[in-house]
Amino acid sequence: MTAVEKRRVAVLISGRGSNMEALYRACTMSDHPAEIIAVLSDRSDAAGLEFARSEGLVATAVPRSGFSSKAEHEAAMLSALDEARPDFVCLAGYMRLLSADFVDRFSGRMINIHPSLLPLYPGLDTHQRALDAGALVHGCSVHFVTAGMDEGPVLAQAVVPVLPTDDSSTLAARVLKAEHRLYPHALRLLASGAARMDKAGRVQLSGDIASDGDALLISPGHA
Ligand code: GRF
Repeated sequence: MTAVEKRRVAVLISGRGSNMEALYRACTMSDHPAEIIAVLSDRSDAAGLEFARSEGLVATAVPRSGFSSKAEHEAAMLSALDEARPDFVCLAGYMRLLSADFVDRFSGRMINIHPSLLPLYPGLDTHQRALDAGALVHGCSVHFVTAGMDEGPVLAQAVVPVLPTDDSSTLAARVLKAEHRLYPHALRLLASGAARMDKAGRVQLSGDIASDGDALLISPGHA
């Protein structure tokens, strides 16, 4: 089988980096259309940096604390990104809201993973909020990044059941497992050209990947 031509991807993290790791592992497969060429963090103590370095990736910390304003910090992040020349940028637990200028630079080329079925529960504490709402399903979304927090058009989602015995940490663990499958899949759609964001900010999919979408039926206690 001929290896696919890989698109260059930079990943932005702030902490653990388990989604970055899942992306990296998927991208080492010869048939995945992306390769991780750089990892950037706004924190020098982000655990994910260690993993990235152990795999020989360029992993750079640009700590926010080293800059007196958000604009200066973003300028430094941008110049590190420019050096890496990514085709796409993946936010993976990057805990800063990016300015509209930054986002515009990567319009249609930057995606984020969020631990809820957007547009439900943008922001923090998504798992507890799903439990408090009595939701029977929860999940995660990969969306294009636009200026509003967790607001961009959704590229892919994964659904998990909420079990009667769940607390926010058991639910978070189930969602995280789904995130690790969803993010590489969503990046594949983007990097292969099968999905893109059009000028009106809608996701366009090429015909062969659209399915007729069977319903997933979940009742309380479904395992
Ligand atoms: C994930 O739950 C992601 O959806 C959210 O932040 C968390 C990051 O986890 N945006 P990790 O750093 O990828 O392990």
